[in-house]
Amino acid sequence: MAVERVLSGMRPTGSLHLGHYHGVLKNWIKLQHEYECLFFVADWHALTTHYDTPHIIEENVWEMVIDWLAAGVDPANATIFIQSRVPEHAELHTLLSMITPLGWLERVPTYKDQQEKLSSKDLSTYGFLGYPLLQSADILIYKATLVPVGEDQVPHIEFTREIARRFNHIYGREPGFEEKAAAAIRKLGSKRGALYEELRTRYQETGDDEALEAARALIEEQQGLSLGDRERLLGFLEGGGKMILVEPEARLTPASRMPGLDGQKMSKSYNNTIALRESPDAVAKKIKTMPTDPARIRRTDPGDPLRCPVWQLHTVYSDDQRRDWVQQGCKGATIGCLECKQPGIDAVLAELQPIQERAAQYAQDPTLVKNIVADGCEKARKLARETMREVREAMGLAYS
Ligand code: TRP
Ligand code: SF4
Repeated sequence: MAVERVLSGMRPTGSLHLGHYHGVLKNWIKLQHEYECLFFVADWHALTTHYDTPHIIEENVWEMVIDWLAAGVDPANATIFIQSRVPEHAELHTLLSMITPLGWLERVPTYKDQQEKLSSKDLSTYGFLGYPLLQSADILIYKATLVPVGEDQVPHIEFTREIARRFNHIYGREPGFEEKAAAAIRKLGSKRGALYEELRTRYQETGDDEALEAARALIEEQQGLSLGDRERLLGFLEGGGKMILVEPEARLTPASRMPGLDGQKMSKSYNNTIALRESPDAVAKKIKTMPTDPARIRRTDPGDPLRCPVWQLHTVYSDDQRRDWVQQGCKGATIGCLECKQPGIDAVLAELQPIQERAAQYAQDPTLVKNIVADGCEKARKLARETMREVREAMGLAYS
């Protein structure tokens, strides 16, 4: 199997909260142990919507990195970097813009949706229209194969796949491609060469995905193959030309069950969040003032947990025994709402405590954080440069 590479980014537009933790971050932390991972601060993407409030981005870049580290994103297992520190993203964005039909961008659903939703801002800008293409450049420059994103971002990954396909179609068609591919097959040796041909035929005639995967694995395993020949063999498998850019797949982030303080999804725009670095007093106060089942006006009124956002907290943090206690105590009016909330408060505080301790350590040591990011930027840049060398060459820009 080809080795997967994971890439994801987050816009630095505010402090991270428990919704981010239970959705995105816990997923990243799991992925970093399974795959090669790159995670980056999408500061340019933040500018597409916050171009008139750059201080918001400036304030949140380092804070967001601290939140990631505190939550458990581990620089030993994942490359952490900042988009604008790898300017190759911008170069690829420009080059890809040459082959991007305007209609493709205009039809991306987030384009009109966000313009309507954020109607207080003028988003009829070139940068905002190009948002998905910049995202494509982020992904394609690392030849990432898996992109963990929320549901709303899936169209951007689809768009990225189409851009990669178009690029390979236009620039992978070098003169004499068929002959060069045949020569590359001979370099596999007679046994492997025959197997490659057999798998290719099987895939092309019957669409057998397993044959495609097996042939890709065969190419990945082959030592001493030049990059050009590898791309030819990969491209020849599916027809077309060289496969220079890799089509990524979306990996849907499992939905966070963490409710907001009002029972809606936890989100900054609903003003119902608990920040990762919220003080314990503020956490306790926020949970104590959470709304409950409106039927429980007095302590003696029975209630129904299904009509209460506090119950959702218990579904995240409580075991069966405590959930039974809530169900019975609420329906039978044998517990009060504050009593019911207390284990929720304790659980949130217990979860936040180690995160906040780590955050404090990083916050006290800005040099450490900057070094982690500098290191990550350097690693990312090395990968990005390699891709750009190929892209420039394919687009006729490798003048010597
Ligand atoms: N658009 C993403 C979001 O709003 C952030 C992002 C930018 C991203 N570039 C990316 C995510 C590349 C994944 C891959 O959440
Ligand atoms: Fe909600 Fe608990 Fe009060 Fe029932 S007892 S209304 S579940 S806070």
